[in-house]
Amino acid sequence: METVILRVTDGSSDEEQRALQKAADCIRGSGLVAFPTETVYGLGGNAFDAEAAKKIYAAKGRPSDNPLIVHIAEPEEMDRYCYTNPLSARLAEAFWPGPMTMILPKRDCIPGSVTGGLDTVAIRLPSDPVANRLIRMAGVPVAAPSANRSGRPSPTTAEHVVEDLQGRIDMILAGNPCRIGVESSVIAVEQDHVTVLRPGAVTCEALRQLLGEDRVSVDRIVTEKVTGAFKPRSPGMKYRHYAPKAPVLLLEGEENTVVSYLKKKLPDPEAGLLVYDEDLDELAGERTLSFGKRLDPDAQAHRLFFCLRKFDSMEEVRTIYARTPRREGIGLAVYNRLAKAAGFHILKF
Ligand code: TXA
Ligand code: MG
Repeated sequence: METVILRVTDGSSDEEQRALQKAADCIRGSGLVAFPTETVYGLGGNAFDAEAAKKIYAAKGRPSDNPLIVHIAEPEEMDRYCYTNPLSARLAEAFWPGPMTMILPKRDCIPGSVTGGLDTVAIRLPSDPVANRLIRMAGVPVAAPSANRSGRPSPTTAEHVVEDLQGRIDMILAGNPCRIGVESSVIAVEQDHVTVLRPGAVTCEALRQLLGEDRVSVDRIVTEKVTGAFKPRSPGMKYRHYAPKAPVLLLEGEENTVVSYLKKKLPDPEAGLLVYDEDLDELAGERTLSFGKRLDPDAQAHRLFFCLRKFDSMEEVRTIYARTPRREGIGLAVYNRLAKAAGFHILKF
């Protein structure tokens, strides 16, 4: 299949409007379009169309029990696709448009092929102007997982999408690098309680501030390896995705000990080092990448997947030794993605 690549920035010029119109037509005609969002690039198809959902799973090579997020352009649309409650309305008001996905009981119009057979649906209203305009023009809710091949880190640039999906989908809207860089916070919403299933830029702290401490919990799958019979509430969390080809080993503990451990690994041609900007004085090298300052989790989120993909392009790297980010704010999301890539292997000093 030939993949049409159209450049966009924010979708406002006449030329970009025409590109968006083509993309919207493609989605309405059961086609697949990759597009930028503020978190990561998404691979969109018509959420009413079971065929489009099938194509999404095939293009990504994704297990079909892992449900897709349904993207909307206006908060009012939510009621058409799921059963809302006062808590979900409050969350929508506080955090939409933005990097938050809510899980709620689904209505019949959303096919089971989109929700992996679950009776709930994930809904998100992105803030990125290209995403927003595209969904609006499509006139249908847009089912979109991250636009990576299953098992690879999520794409944060158009080049990443081309790398993974060129020839497998109809169109790529090639825009700017994603502002945030990690996927949206996935939150299961009940009558008077929410559970964070995947941490993101809408942080646990922000949720607690809005709803109160005792109304917010974090699923154990965010920070623990779960095995055996445990059935996660968010099917996607059980897969080792966000993962580069080389295994990741997280290093945690006293600063000097971690740095000297990394220093010993520096000359090893099979070792990739993922470090903080501050470490570069001592640890700069051909296979060293920094993902931001130690106390700057926004920068770390922004650069994480870029770095993991960069390690993929270094043929010789067999293990990635990584600093363990602090778990506060969006840092919890950075920690979660790295720990998952590491299969929760953490070397503690
Ligand atoms: O930022 C994002 O959320 C991006 C952009 C494109 O919007 N999308 C994204 O989609 O990350 P995906 O498919 O890669 O991740 C969706 C996650 C998966 O872990 C999936 O299991 C979970 O959301 N999910 C979807 N529907 C669910 C449901 N009904 N119940 C529980 N978890 C669900
Ligand atoms: Mg994904």
